[in-house]
Amino acid sequence: MKVLVVGRGGREHAIVWALAKSPRIIKLYCAPGNGGIENLAECVPIEEMNFAAIAQFAKENRVELVVIGPDAPLAAGIVDYLEAEGLTVFGPRQNAAIIEGSKTFMKDLMRKYDIPSAAYAAFDSYEEALIYLRLQKLPIVIKADGLAAGKGVIVAHTMEVAEEALNQIMVDKAFGASGERVVIEEFLQGQEMSLLAFVDGEIVRPLEPSQDHKPVFDNDEGPNTGGMGTYSPVPHISQEIVEEAIRTILKPAAKAMVAEGRPFRGVLYAGLMLTAEGPKTIEFNARFGDPETQVILPRLNSDLLTILLDVIEGRLAETDIRWSDAAAVCVILASGGYPGAYSTGILIEGIEDAEQTALVFHAGTARKDGQVCTAGGRVLGVVGRGAGIAEARSNAYAAAEQICFSGKHSRSDIAAKAIVSFGAKG
Ligand code: AMP
Ligand code: GLY
Repeated sequence: MKVLVVGRGGREHAIVWALAKSPRIIKLYCAPGNGGIENLAECVPIEEMNFAAIAQFAKENRVELVVIGPDAPLAAGIVDYLEAEGLTVFGPRQNAAIIEGSKTFMKDLMRKYDIPSAAYAAFDSYEEALIYLRLQKLPIVIKADGLAAGKGVIVAHTMEVAEEALNQIMVDKAFGASGERVVIEEFLQGQEMSLLAFVDGEIVRPLEPSQDHKPVFDNDEGPNTGGMGTYSPVPHISQEIVEEAIRTILKPAAKAMVAEGRPFRGVLYAGLMLTAEGPKTIEFNARFGDPETQVILPRLNSDLLTILLDVIEGRLAETDIRWSDAAAVCVILASGGYPGAYSTGILIEGIEDAEQTALVFHAGTARKDGQVCTAGGRVLGVVGRGAGIAEARSNAYAAAEQICFSGKHSRSDIAAKAIVSFGAKG
């Protein structure tokens, strides 16, 4: 089978890597791909948002399945567009991708269908938002309504920071049009967990749980990023809690989307806070997580291509989804300055050495005269595997040490929580 993956990050590298293992693959393409994906797929220089060029390429090359990685093309209706061109596509249509594309849609859906979540209010007016904000307890969470690459959320512990955030989003328009509307939300206390599921209408088949690390610095300090590292499984969170989240959040959300006439087909990602009152939803995403995918797919023992086709062709309920008991830990190597301004085009060394013992998924890299250089904020995801989290973690960090580029930044405490709360067995 000929398959085209759309996207250019670490998530897409992991998807391409998993698809490449399928005996059913004849040819893999990626648009536009990156410096690492090139080793597994033919990268074609077409931007994710150029739907017409993607459709034309897929038809000319007899692509039988297109897999969409990122949120922006999904929110803009890439699936509807490609389907109208007669292509088979993995991902939700635009009317379902809105669950991620609009935070107010997501929050209203959860309110209407009693899906546990944080209390909130949404505003189009800066003045009204400010009056409401000043009446709230701290900490408080301020979010730009639209997509902001995981960076449009500010958890404020002082009113000064909260007002500054509101100002940045609504007055300075730091996230562009995403900030025309703002959501002010109750702060949820607890452990975070990412729970993704393959969804087709009301059928929900969860993937293995994982945990992300959003803030840029150790101990969850500094601004939020797209994600600085992940691990899976999450040994200190019980199976009962995972099942509760499936029962109270993922399944009701899938059902709600059907009831709204917006059936979801693809990967539905619930970002959860495990509070003292049970799991609550922080957000839904309409796609695979990044960097969650980098630790989930290496644990998948079944054929990813078969699962994706089974989702599309109505066989999700019976498809075979098996997981390895082994653990995986992903450490993101980022450009100095990220999530703020950073330089690109910096030479990266040591990837092949790291690959002797770990998986290296490229996120923001490009090839220049045959050499791999930095090309984004998150540059590489180094994934260590082992019998437990402790072993996977030390493998990931040992391999990450072997990779050098000027300005390289990573967190040193990825998955530390899992080991502290569970002991070395992990
Ligand atoms: P989001 O983009 O909505 O996933 O938010 C990014 C990050 O901000 C989350 O992963 C949480 O760490 C944090 N966050 C968002 N909403 C809340 C909330 N209501 N309470 C506590 N933390 C939150
Ligand atoms: N890791 C966070 C996300 O994919 O949105």
